[in-house]
Amino acid sequence: MSTTPIIFLFFLFLSATVSTAITTVSSDITALKSIKSGINQKTISSFTCLYSWDFTSDPCSPPHVTHFLCGLSCSGNRVTQLTLDPAGYTGTLSPLVSQLTQLITIDLSDNKFSGQIPNSLFFLPNLQTLILGSNSFSGVIPASISNLKKLQTLDISHNFISGSLPNSLTQLTELTRLDLSYNKLNGALPKLPKNIIQLALKANSLSGYLQKQAFTELTQLEVVELSENSLTGTIPGWFFLIPSLQQVNLAKNSFTGLEILKPVNSNLIAVDLGFNKISGYPPANFSTYPMLASLTLSYNKLRGRIPWEYGKTTTLSRLFLDGNFLIGLPPKDFFSGKTSLSGSLGDNCLKMCPISSGLCLKSQKPLSICKQAYRGKLKPKS
Ligand SMILES: *[C@@H]1O[C@H](CO)[C@@H](O)[C@H](O)[C@H]1NC(C)=O
Repeated sequence: MSTTPIIFLFFLFLSATVSTAITTVSSDITALKSIKSGINQKTISSFTCLYSWDFTSDPCSPPHVTHFLCGLSCSGNRVTQLTLDPAGYTGTLSPLVSQLTQLITIDLSDNKFSGQIPNSLFFLPNLQTLILGSNSFSGVIPASISNLKKLQTLDISHNFISGSLPNSLTQLTELTRLDLSYNKLNGALPKLPKNIIQLALKANSLSGYLQKQAFTELTQLEVVELSENSLTGTIPGWFFLIPSLQQVNLAKNSFTGLEILKPVNSNLIAVDLGFNKISGYPPANFSTYPMLASLTLSYNKLRGRIPWEYGKTTTLSRLFLDGNFLIGLPPKDFFSGKTSLSGSLGDNCLKMCPISSGLCLKSQKPLSICKQAYRGKLKPKS
C-alpha cells in the first residue's frame, strides 16, 4: 500500500537522471574510437590517457574516475579538446578526427604519429590551437589550411613536413603563432598572415630573398626565427623597421649583404646574423637602435673597422663579431669598464685586443690570412 509512492518516486528519480545525464553525440564517439584504433595498441601502456579510454562508459559524462581520465575535454555533449599525453604513441591520426566539429584544441605533441596529417583536419571550423610538434608527420601543408579561420596557434615543428608554404596562409587572420621549425619545407616565404606575433621556421630549406611583399602589414610581428635555411641576397633595411620587432635570428643562411637604416622608433632587442656570407662593413647604424642589447655578426665576411659608435651605446651588453676580417683598434669604450659588455671579437685581424678583456680571449687570425684578405694591404684608412 505504501510502496506505490516509493516506486513512483523511484521512476521520477530515474527519469530525472536520464534526462540530465550527458550523452556524447554518437559521431564524436565514433571519431574517438577511430582515433584510438589508429594507434598501435602496443604503445598504449597502462597509465596512459588512451588506456583509460574505455567505451563501455560515455566519454563526456563526468565524473572521470576510472574511464576517460585524460586526453580529452568536453563542453556539454561535444568534445572540445583533444590533448594526448606525450606517451610515445605510434600510429596515424584517423581522418575521422574531422567529425569532432566542436574541437577548439588539438595537441598531440611529443609522440610518434606518422603518415600524412589527414586533410579533413583542415576543415574543423572552430579550431584555435593545432599542436602536432615533435612527431613524425610527413606530407605537405595543404592550401585548404585557410579554412581554419579561427586558428591562433599552429605548431607542427620537429616533423617531416615537405613542400612549400601555401599562399593561402595569409588568410589565417587570427594566427599569432606559427612554428614549423625543423621540417623539410622549401621554396620562398609566402605572404604571411597579418596578425602574426611569433614566426618560427628554423632549420628548413627555405630559399630566396626576404621579400617585402611577404612582410607587408605585419604590425604585430615580434619574433622572427628563420635560422638554418638557405635564404639569400641582401638583408634589406626595411626588415628591421617592422614596428614591433624585438628578436631576429637569421643565422646560418646564405645572405651576402646587410642594409641597416636608422629607425624612428624601435623595440629591437636581439639580432643574430651569424654564419652567413655577409660582406661589407659592420653597419654603424645598429647603434641607433635604442633597445638593442644583443648583436651577433659572427662568421661572415665583414671587413674594415669596428664602428666607434658601438662603444657609445648604453644598451648593448652582448656583441659577437668574431670570425670576420675586422681591422684596426677596437673601440676603447669596450674596455673602459663603464659597460659590462660580453661577447667576442676574436678570429679577426684586430690590433691590440687586450688579452685582459674577455672579448679578446679568442686569438686573432694569422697575419698571412689577413694580408691575403686585404691583398697585402693592411692599413685601414682613418
Ligand atoms: C644609415 O641610415 C640612414 C638613414 O636611414 C641611411 O640614409 C644610411 O644610408 C644608412 N647608412 C648605411 C651605411 O647604410
